[in-house]
Amino acid sequence: MIAAHNLEKRFGKFIAVDRVSFTIEEGEMFGFLGPNGAGKTTTMKMIQCISPKTGGELEVLGMDVSTSQREIKRLLGVVPQENNLDPDFTVYENLLVYSRYFDIPRTEAEKRIGELLDFVQLSERKETPIIQLSGGMKRRLILARALINNPRLLVLDEPTVGLDPQARHLIWDKLKRLKSQGNTVVLTTHYLEEAEYLCDRLVIMDQGKILVEGKPAELVRKYIGADIVEAENVPAAEACLKRLDANYEVLGDTIQVYTDNTQRVTGALLEECRLGQVTARRATLEDVFLKLTGRKLRE
Ligand SMILES: Nc1ncnc2c1ncn2[C@@H]1O[C@H](COP(=O)(O)OP(=O)(O)OP(=O)(O)O)[C@@H](O)[C@H]1O
Ligand SMILES: [Mg+2]
Repeated sequence: MIAAHNLEKRFGKFIAVDRVSFTIEEGEMFGFLGPNGAGKTTTMKMIQCISPKTGGELEVLGMDVSTSQREIKRLLGVVPQENNLDPDFTVYENLLVYSRYFDIPRTEAEKRIGELLDFVQLSERKETPIIQLSGGMKRRLILARALINNPRLLVLDEPTVGLDPQARHLIWDKLKRLKSQGNTVVLTTHYLEEAEYLCDRLVIMDQGKILVEGKPAELVRKYIGADIVEAENVPAAEACLKRLDANYEVLGDTIQVYTDNTQRVTGALLEECRLGQVTARRATLEDVFLKLTGRKLRE
């Protein structure tokens, strides 16, 4: 569905997307993760044909983005990072206006709008002006808008940002349903449990580059191991962990040990190192993310 080879985007001298390569297969749910400024939105915009690439190759639905923008745009469903609903119109009017970009006949558009408002549970808000919607309602409406043209490929930039847990779960259900119907979904998110739950495959980007690519569970196994044992960081802790030849990281007041054998490590930390507050938990994608992209804030 999408193939990028050495894809690049420069703004003047600044390289926002630095020769990234990836392929996304039909029917996949594919995630782009990364800290603020990593280049996710810039990549989404090149896929959506609203920002031209400055280098490399990018094919979407088998077409070149440089020569087939119009054809590609007709087949895509897009959720931009920033809400861009028309504030002068109602919920219903926003969808109707959008349907005209795709030359959908009025009667068909009306039917489709009814179904989509049901789908995102906004039917009762049909006549509400955009200005009166909550943030979460706007996000749900934008997802409905993205589906107006029955797209085969959805490109969603932080579709669940700012949603409450109920609305997020609703969107997750909807995205899973769209995927089970054979659609391809590309999304960015900062909610790593969301990426872990939804994505078949994902990449983690930082400073314009792709650091890693893989299935969430595989990345966790490869970069962290199965589990993490945490303990308090007392002065003698590190020396003891070195003696145990443990794979660990110091995070201020706590120490994290990465392991596939929680029992042995927990026992060793308690008895040999005499550390307190020892707890074990499953490793998550968030652990991978922080390990690979560091803990410093981006500018
Ligand atoms: N139009 C532009 N002109 C100049 N620089 C830009 C422009 N758009 C984005 N950038 C820069 O490109 C880099 C990548 O931005 P991008 O929006 O792709 O990040 P992101 O990964 O989506 O981050 P976030 O998680 O904050 O949404 C940033 O350093 C940003 O400042
Ligand atoms: Mg972004």
